[in-house]
Amino acid sequence: MALLELDDLSIEYRTAAGAARAVDGVSITIDEGEYLGLVGESGCGKSTIAKAILGILPPNGAVTKGQIRYRGRDLTRLSLAELNRVRWRQIALVPQSAMNGFDPVYTIEQQINEAIETHMKWSAAEKQSRIAELFRLVGMEQSRLKDYPHQFSGGMRQRAMIAMAMVLDPNLVVADEPTTGLDVIVQDQILHRIKEIHIRLKKAMLLITHDMAVVAENCDRIAVMYAGRIVEYGAHDVFERPFHPYTMGLCNAFPDLADEGRELISIPKAPPSLLDLPTGCRFAERCPFATDLCRKLEPALVSVGDGHVAACHHVARAAEFRDSARHVRTWQAGPATA
Ligand SMILES: Nc1ncnc2c1ncn2[C@@H]1O[C@H](COP(=O)(O)OP(=O)(O)OP(=O)(O)O)[C@@H](O)[C@H]1O
Ligand code: SF4
Ligand SMILES: [Mg+2]
Repeated sequence: MALLELDDLSIEYRTAAGAARAVDGVSITIDEGEYLGLVGESGCGKSTIAKAILGILPPNGAVTKGQIRYRGRDLTRLSLAELNRVRWRQIALVPQSAMNGFDPVYTIEQQINEAIETHMKWSAAEKQSRIAELFRLVGMEQSRLKDYPHQFSGGMRQRAMIAMAMVLDPNLVVADEPTTGLDVIVQDQILHRIKEIHIRLKKAMLLITHDMAVVAENCDRIAVMYAGRIVEYGAHDVFERPFHPYTMGLCNAFPDLADEGRELISIPKAPPSLLDLPTGCRFAERCPFATDLCRKLEPALVSVGDGHVAACHHVARAAEFRDSARHVRTWQAGPATA
């Protein structure tokens, strides 16, 4: 049974300029012990999904359609008290910047203790032993427990943040850009720790990132998001044999996924405004393969392989597109006029 199911989920933000459709009809599942990567450019709705799962959308944000089912229970219908029981104990968040997750005036130990005390009635000895166990898990020395957040390096803070997320033994960990701002070596170490937790403790993970290479290296399955929608979804085939031109473009942007010596390509132009979405395919304005049909009709997700789906009218031409998408000139030429 799926651990978490997003079922036709739509989320809007009220703004002075109107309703911004940040997430639009998203359906994805995470099975027990599975590692799913959610990838896409800045502003495509990744953190909005993470916040909705944790029940921490800002006051102007709301789920307007669909469900978020955790073990079959729709989280969007829970009271605040019920949701608080799910948060931390069942689903925990590793946020984007570790510094934001810690209060500068308390030691790391005090803050982890407080997280425990809010939810559990453990003795001092139980708390101490749990924290010691977690610090071992993330590779930190016990002596650092009495330190304040500012005495930690960015990487150390993020390790402590992961320890804090794991404190009540949740089944699902949502990591939203957990390595942003850290240098490459530290990024690798943090991602390695997260993967170890996934493998050794058999925890389900949702890793949110804009980096295809990170997802390729870490995740079992991958969901590619564009302007509030899932445009491609599946296992490793998604980056080995992409069917959506946006995924092809994303793969070309990362050195680890491109062939050696190949020029890296960035997709020109920006995604559409969420206040004024186009009628047809949301990627059409940037897609070198767009046709009239693409501009008229929004493509639905169609099956392109075993558990692999893509939302493009022209999936039958994917092999030709993949070839063409490897060249910078294809992207520079802009959308086709056919
Ligand atoms: N509180 C808010 N009010 C209005 N619009 C918002 C609010 N929060 C986010 N948005 C808009 O919703 C869209 C999705 O934002 P979100 O933070 O989910 O994107 P993201 O994919 O996480 O981006 P990033 O990679 O930059 O973190 C963006 O266009 C953003 O500007
Ligand atoms: S539907 Fe058309 S515009 Fe959209 S990704 Fe496919 S080819 Fe490009
Ligand atoms: Mg984000």
